[in-house]
Amino acid sequence: TGDTTYDQGFSSTASCKSAITFIDGDAGVLQYRGYSIEQLAEKSSFLETAYLVIYGELPTAEQLATFEDRITKNMIIDERMRDFFRCFPRRSHPMPVLAAGIMGLSTFNSETTGLDNDSVEEATTRLLAKVPTLAAYGYKNSIGKPTLYPDHSLNYIENFERMSFGNPAEPYQIDDKITRALEVLLILHADHEQNCSTSTVRLVGSSQANLYASVASGVNALSGPLHGGANQEVLEMLQQIKDSGMSVQEFVDKVKNKESGIKLMGFGHRIYKNYDPRANIIKKHADEVLKLKEGRRDLLDIAQELEQTALNDDYFQSRKLYPNVDFYSGLIYEAMGFPVNMFTVLFAIGRLPGWIAQWREQNNDKSTKIGRPRQVYVGQTHRDFVPLEQR
Ligand code: CMC
Repeated sequence: TGDTTYDQGFSSTASCKSAITFIDGDAGVLQYRGYSIEQLAEKSSFLETAYLVIYGELPTAEQLATFEDRITKNMIIDERMRDFFRCFPRRSHPMPVLAAGIMGLSTFNSETTGLDNDSVEEATTRLLAKVPTLAAYGYKNSIGKPTLYPDHSLNYIENFERMSFGNPAEPYQIDDKITRALEVLLILHADHEQNCSTSTVRLVGSSQANLYASVASGVNALSGPLHGGANQEVLEMLQQIKDSGMSVQEFVDKVKNKESGIKLMGFGHRIYKNYDPRANIIKKHADEVLKLKEGRRDLLDIAQELEQTALNDDYFQSRKLYPNVDFYSGLIYEAMGFPVNMFTVLFAIGRLPGWIAQWREQNNDKSTKIGRPRQVYVGQTHRDFVPLEQR
């Protein structure tokens, strides 16, 4: 479909060789370094998965302990950077604040912006460690609450939770089940081969821009509603269906009418044409978390009815449109206490190991060329300049 004189949306152009993530979209298979997403979601931790994605092998117990220690001890950010968050307006969306924060981080860590192995290793540690802190501080800024320092006695996910929801004057109560659900969600997002934000990270990196600059570009690419922003849009869509009083069938009929311009957010995927394996795993957690927390059961019911109605509808069946990773993730984040504008930030924390691994793979490949696509020119051909007074 569409103009076939060029590859619209790069749907059939391989832009690189990669040994990180394998996807079989027809069979609903997703593997990081050969390990299935189902096994990793059940058995691994987020930092162990990050190690696997970045270094290519599961760590030994000693390697993992050293890695976790290095990351958690680096979660603190420069004191002047904490002040940086005060410069943004109250209620700023935490996603642009995160992108700006990552560029800010590059100025506070300028000795690690080189392309040599030592700098890249340091930048990898600092980004993995500090991005959750930046994300939590962006959130605290948006709600006008005080920030907390990371706590070395807590693990990575617990620290992020405490910095997001904790109050400096009170001890913070960790809920293991909620922490594990958040960890699983982050594992499911850790990499997804050449999606829009990862391709952006690689394209920016291909000019030999440093890891911080490339990752900040990835955050911006992720912010769009057709990519990471979809999880926020799903929750807003469910709320709108509820508020409007229309039935699920009426909403689906509206989506099917192309003139409405409305999409069923959280449905469809460029690669998965059977099902998105991440959505299957998330769906199970949505039910569990909503049992534990005061979640939007009303919206979960609408989501489940919407899913069934769409899956039984010829429009969605013929186009091979199935729920994707974003369809249920927002409901879980909401039940955990995150506001909708934090959903894409959580996606960014999850995708960070993938961006880093893909950038490093490209940086290590000495045959890499700067990304520079061509175009099909459809503008005017030669014209003589017309002086201003004659136009
Ligand atoms: N609702 C209604 N119709 C849809 C949808 C949808 N969610 N997705 C695709 N279609 C239709 C589309 O209009 C087209 O119809 P036709 O052939 O009649 O013109 C057909 O299905 C093929 O879609 P496409 O737009 O050519 O597919 P794509 O590969 O370019 O787009 C997508 C993939 C994910 C951008 C798209 O499915 C979409 O916009 N989905 C909603 C947003 C969303 O949930 N995004 C999250 C993606 S997963 C996580 C991530 O990548 O960040």
